[in-house]
Amino acid sequence: MTDAAATRTLRLGVAGLGTVGAGLLKLIARQDELRLPGRLSVSAVSARSRSRERGVDISHIRWTDDPVELALADDVDVVVELIGGSDGPAKRTVEAALKAGKPVITANKALIAEHGLEIAALAEARNTHLLFEAAVAGSIPIVRAIRSSLSGVVVQRVSGILNGTCNYILSEMLRTGAPYESVLADAQRLGYAESDPWLDVSGMDAAHKVLILASIAFGAQPDFSQVTVDGVSQIEAMDIALSAKFDYRIKLVAEAFRANAKTVRCRVAPVLVQKDHPLAQISGPLNAVVIESDPIGRLTFSGPGAGAGPTAAAVMSDLARLFEGPAQPPLGRPADQLTAQIAAVSSEADQGAWFIGASLADRPGVFAALTEELAEAGISIDKLIQESAGDSGAAPVAIMTHPCPRAAVERALAKVADLRITADAPRLIRIEQRS
Ligand SMILES: NC(=O)c1ccc[n+]([C@@H]2O[C@H](COP(=O)([O-])OP(=O)(O)OC[C@H]3O[C@@H](n4cnc5c(N)ncnc54)[C@H](OP(=O)(O)O)[C@@H]3O)[C@@H](O)[C@H]2O)c1
Repeated sequence: MTDAAATRTLRLGVAGLGTVGAGLLKLIARQDELRLPGRLSVSAVSARSRSRERGVDISHIRWTDDPVELALADDVDVVVELIGGSDGPAKRTVEAALKAGKPVITANKALIAEHGLEIAALAEARNTHLLFEAAVAGSIPIVRAIRSSLSGVVVQRVSGILNGTCNYILSEMLRTGAPYESVLADAQRLGYAESDPWLDVSGMDAAHKVLILASIAFGAQPDFSQVTVDGVSQIEAMDIALSAKFDYRIKLVAEAFRANAKTVRCRVAPVLVQKDHPLAQISGPLNAVVIESDPIGRLTFSGPGAGAGPTAAAVMSDLARLFEGPAQPPLGRPADQLTAQIAAVSSEADQGAWFIGASLADRPGVFAALTEELAEAGISIDKLIQESAGDSGAAPVAIMTHPCPRAAVERALAKVADLRITADAPRLIRIEQRS
């Protein structure tokens, strides 16, 4: 590298100074300790409240109320979008910067998942960078790994734990035996869950992330409407405890796999994984990604998936990438060559082994009625546990089926609901098959 390249300075405009934005400014202040190929300076910042304390000195940096104005400023070479949200100011800022031919770095998974195709096309048309390492799995360099380091393998499946809030909740429910609502309240108190946790617990946040990975790994057009999404709020503490007795853990697993040459399935749902599976070992707020590929086999990455430091470090790795050379297509292949389609997983086609968790009314004959409905639907039971009703008046039951279509189990459970023999709505959870 020439001296000129080594001392090149990129002038940044940082839009959004919340958890990640403030974390990034702190990291930039320590750039002498990093191994960047050039220098970074911050010309301008933008956020909503100018007076808010951010734990970092911004008095020497120009303040701009409008992030679009920041993006277009003459002394801004690179726009870092850390506002968040799939539309609104974040999208306007990113589009304005790309149209002006400026590189954009963002941590915004909602924006990339919901508008990735058009925004990638815009970046390609202007031959500029659109980088989003921080959008998926925080500190884990998975976007770059799939896009570049693993370009010599055929990816068969990408799966992972992509939401630390859900993983923390499920880990704590296992550790303490406490119900979902009280563990969620503790997570909010400790800062592991937002005051409005919907985006996380509904599975939507993980769905945004896995769709981005699906697009890069399989050359698929990101189409968020086709991702099958289920969250963690319906999981009962007894499901977790009884799964543990079968030597399984319940995890919120996000996965994408190729169904055929043109179709990629993408879904987020609670899944039972055997306790020695790599994803079962990931506890608390950590994230993990498993890549199954030919000819490597299984690769597992894990690490902090969120937080100011880990996410800012991922943004910094994208900034370092800007010194390396010309832009590549943001989604790995040019946007007009993303020919595979994301398609929803239908219940009829969803073949697997299933866990059924329920609380049965404490009356004679109810257990037989449940198993008869399953038998009538052609579902064969692999393992089951029934516990005593105790004082609750309802007996916890857990069943593991042999492989069968999900739709068959759904039909049987609908008939069970008509019999009014359960004290709650039974949970139906896929069991990860050992590969
Ligand atoms: N937090 C994480 O651990 C994490 C991890 C991975 C990815 N991400 C992603 O990183 C992005 C930022 O997340 P965050 O947690 O840092 O969010 P945050 O703490 O809520 O910060 C958002 C920032 O955007 C600013 N903002 C909101 N509306 C604005 C507008 N109209 N104009 C200018 N600024 C505006 C806010 O200003 P005020 O401060 O004045 O209110 C705030 O500084 C999101 O896309 C998120 O999904 C976050």
